Amino acid sequence: MDGAVKRVPVKTPGGAYDVVVGTGTLPLIAEKRDMLERDTFALVVNETVLGLHGDFIRRCFGGFRNFQSYVMPDGEEHKSYRHAEQAFDWLLESGISRRSTIVAIGGGVTGDFAGYLAALYMRGVSIIHVPTTLLAMVDSSVGGKVAVNLSAGKNIVGAFHQPEIVLADVDFLRTLPDNELRNGLAEAVKHAFIGEESLYALFDANDYDSIKSPEILAEVVYLSARFKSSIVERDEREGGVRAILNFGHTVGHAIESLLEYRGISHGEAVSLGMAAELELSVRAGLLDGAHAGRCVRLLERYGLCTRREGLDADGLMRHMKFDKKTSGGTAHFALLSGTGEPVYDRAVPDDLVRGVLIDVFAAGG
Ligand SMILES: NC(=O)c1ccc[n+]([C@@H]2O[C@H](COP(=O)([O-])OP(=O)(O)OC[C@H]3O[C@@H](n4cnc5c(N)ncnc54)[C@H](O)[C@@H]3O)[C@@H](O)[C@H]2O)c1
Repeated sequence: MDGAVKRVPVKTPGGAYDVVVGTGTLPLIAEKRDMLERDTFALVVNETVLGLHGDFIRRCFGGFRNFQSYVMPDGEEHKSYRHAEQAFDWLLESGISRRSTIVAIGGGVTGDFAGYLAALYMRGVSIIHVPTTLLAMVDSSVGGKVAVNLSAGKNIVGAFHQPEIVLADVDFLRTLPDNELRNGLAEAVKHAFIGEESLYALFDANDYDSIKSPEILAEVVYLSARFKSSIVERDEREGGVRAILNFGHTVGHAIESLLEYRGISHGEAVSLGMAAELELSVRAGLLDGAHAGRCVRLLERYGLCTRREGLDADGLMRHMKFDKKTSGGTAHFALLSGTGEPVYDRAVPDDLVRGVLIDVFAAGG
């Protein structure tokens, strides 16, 4: 082990586990040796990660003789119901049984896909997450949501399936491209805005260059995972407070689907969504303008976009109506009334929303 290791214990009705954060944490897979040796286990590993970190991964799993590898190609399109059916066949042919474990090594696409397989295969087998992107470390590997996409939409078919352990090894992040790092930073800054004061202070005291040091990234992952787990522990299945994690996402998802997921990353969409929802919080009378301004400047300091011209407000409104967070034809939002003071499930009149979208996007901000 290279550096300090921190653990976030997560306790939900669906399972209790640790998120283990630090540099060089993957070798701690040995803690789960008994579980892995119950039967043949499956390593579901992203092909890019295998190319970049194959030697390290092989070293960590070198002591095991009882596994089969499924190499998952890059791309959201592989996180599909169709590919899952093929993967179920592969699990069966590879001798994976009810006593087996699936280990997911990769970003959120790999984790969601492997988690979905684990939730359903033989009515559920164990899953271990080894997230290798910042987004997967701070967000998707924690909380037990797993899903695949249909051609009609993203994450339509899924389950809640908590892992046995999450090994967040920030050494993987050394090879992560900048745009992918920013995708994760957008979610971590969201956690800072909605509830994790020490994370806000950490972002406030750093900038994009200094945050990239492994020690600081480990702290970002630790504080983010600690915050997300505190929410998931209170509301595993998003019946209430977990909805605050949607801050920035109601508008963000509408932007992604309006643009058909082309020419915009998830982090950019969420960051634009946060800028719009901060303004919406101000106009809804919840947040003071100076506070919203500080939040927007923090996003900008990390190169996260807060303005984009030419997004059609009516188009965005239409896409929001199809969102899972819409009920009774009115979009519901998680909004802010101060740092660490989110309000959720807030219905906002269409006129107010349209006005913000026009001012922030259509006219170029
Ligand atoms: N389950 C949840 O709660 C939840 C939450 C948020 C997002 N998600 C899902 O997560 C997915 C997005 O995850 P993502 O942003 O990690 O995308 P991703 O898994 O596609 O990874 C992004 C890119 O980074 C590459 N990569 C991964 N690790 C690397 C490393 N260490 N070095 C270099 N390159 C590396 C991958 O090959 C890929 O090209 C989406 O499908 C989204 O729906 C799920």
